[in-house]
Amino acid sequence: MGRRPYVLLSCAMSIDGYIDDATDERLLLSNDSDLDRVDAVRAEADAILVGAATVRRDDPRLLVRSPGHRQLRVARGLPPSPAKVTVTGSGDLDPAARFFTVGDADKIVYCGSAAWDKTRERLGHLAAVVDGGEPVDPARVLADLAGRGVGRLMVEGGAQVHAQFLAAGLADELHLVLAPFFVGDGRAPRFVGDGRFPWHPGRRARVAEVRQIDDVVLVRYALSDRCPAG
Ligand SMILES: NC(=O)c1ccc[n+]([C@@H]2O[C@H](COP(=O)([O-])OP(=O)(O)OC[C@H]3O[C@@H](n4cnc5c(N)ncnc54)[C@H](OP(=O)(O)O)[C@@H]3O)[C@@H](O)[C@H]2O)c1
Repeated sequence: MGRRPYVLLSCAMSIDGYIDDATDERLLLSNDSDLDRVDAVRAEADAILVGAATVRRDDPRLLVRSPGHRQLRVARGLPPSPAKVTVTGSGDLDPAARFFTVGDADKIVYCGSAAWDKTRERLGHLAAVVDGGEPVDPARVLADLAGRGVGRLMVEGGAQVHAQFLAAGLADELHLVLAPFFVGDGRAPRFVGDGRFPWHPGRRARVAEVRQIDDVVLVRYALSDRCPAG
């Protein structure tokens, strides 16, 4: 079997570790300069993965926004934006979501085995709907993506999806952005919930870079030897 894709996790959180608030509005944690940086990171990826709850709540486009980055990708023989990938157990995804309707990128839905048939029927004309196991197994997702030519995967959240890649030791790099405010509401989602993570007081992650970007701070953690230093 080929090497699994390089997995880069990207997340923005408040000082107190929240990745959203508990309102219906989308919480802006990042700033414009950092969103440009994220766009450049997206442009380097072959695929971008978010969980189904993020598709439902944020309705993200998951496109490379900068015309320059898009042109560079095309010049390298790549599509303008990476493939879009999501994970669902229920199959409860709206065919009108921007995940499916915006952009020409390939779309792949990794679905729990139990909901696979019905999801394929509903979404199969919009995306490749793949049986990912019950529940969907991140290692199986990576193996399938590798088979589709994905060498570099960016995982943009939310919390459940990040937690699974981290707990399974299937992450090479973490980009954590710290927004300069508190959310202070226990009903809001945090970066990751409880779990047994391979990085703990006895095995500390390596800091590859710390960078201030206007009013936020980016910390880049190297989580495997595949992540280059500096
Ligand atoms: N600050 C940031 O950087 C950032 C980035 C992204 C998202 N967010 C926020 O994160 C929140 C959403 O995070 P979340 O943790 O609730 O959800 P999530 O990770 O986006 O998605 C969770 C959903 O994904 C599916 N799923 C995940 N793992 C699965 C598995 N192994 N097998 C089958 N299905 C699986 C399930 O979908 P089904 O329910 O369909 O079964 C599950 O409900 C939102 O508030 C969003 O705004 C923040």
